[in-house]
Amino acid sequence: MVNPSEVAQFTSPASSVTPAPIALRLRHLTRRFGDFVAVNNLNLEVRRGSFLGFLGPNGAGKSTTIKMVTGLLAPSQGQIEILDRDLEAEPIAVKRLIGVVPEDLNLFDRLTGAEYLTFVGRMHELERHVIAERTAELLHVMELEEKPKALIIEYSHGMRKKISLAAALIHNPQVLFLDEPFEGVDAVAARVIKNLLERMRERGVTIFLTSHILEIVERLCTDIAIINHGRLIVSGPLDELRAQAGTNLEDYFVNLVGGERPLADTLSWIG
Ligand SMILES: Nc1ncnc2c1ncn2[C@@H]1O[C@H](COP(=O)(O)OP(=O)(O)O)[C@@H](O)[C@H]1O
Ligand SMILES: [Mg+2]
Repeated sequence: MVNPSEVAQFTSPASSVTPAPIALRLRHLTRRFGDFVAVNNLNLEVRRGSFLGFLGPNGAGKSTTIKMVTGLLAPSQGQIEILDRDLEAEPIAVKRLIGVVPEDLNLFDRLTGAEYLTFVGRMHELERHVIAERTAELLHVMELEEKPKALIIEYSHGMRKKISLAAALIHNPQVLFLDEPFEGVDAVAARVIKNLLERMRERGVTIFLTSHILEIVERLCTDIAIINHGRLIVSGPLDELRAQAGTNLEDYFVNLVGGERPLADTLSWIG
């Protein structure tokens, strides 16, 4: 059993000679809904080029954090810096640097995939030929070109996730925020998304991902941060956290957020 109070002390070794530049810096980030504190004084730094798994049980505050960090929801308190720019001071400049696949995908249902990507490309003020090239390539990579006339409203859940990710990539973002991109997605679409994210990271894009699928987090992520009840419990490189805990990510996570209850004396009628 991991002692959470010990693990919460964990930080990266102070010995790193030149610290990697920081892609995302949160200071005292807080969001209240009435009296309820959904995100509570969050302090976090995400190194440039890292792939962070932002984990926590349902209701921990992950989506609320992503919404604040991407400018979709105002914080109650605290600061957000992306690539050394303050989101509140320079919202447009920051939005040019980031891509987001939000929790509720917010797509335009009456457009085709190509029309939607074209629309997003124009919002980013890309040149028309650039939009056309990138749209074709994104539809190809996402395996969405089979039904070019289909409207987004006709798309399956997995196709909606893929077109949302395509839209998040069209302007070449430096930092990508993904809220449960694998949720409800079949194995084929998940493979496409995983491969694409691996390629993005190889090219230096910083990725901030929430996912309940810990196998995917273990495979893709370099770093993790875990929150519970809106508070950061632990953050650091995945390898080091796992080595220190001496267990796999699932056991580590369940121990930390305390979700496991004894089954022995419950469901007495079963069996
Ligand atoms: N607009 C809102 N109004 C009131 N409460 C909210 C709102 N959005 C989120 N919450 C609450 O904040 C908490 C964190 O939600 P959320 O960030 O969606 O969690 P997660 O994504 O980690 O599952 C939950 O208890 C949720 O009910
Ligand atoms: Mg969520």
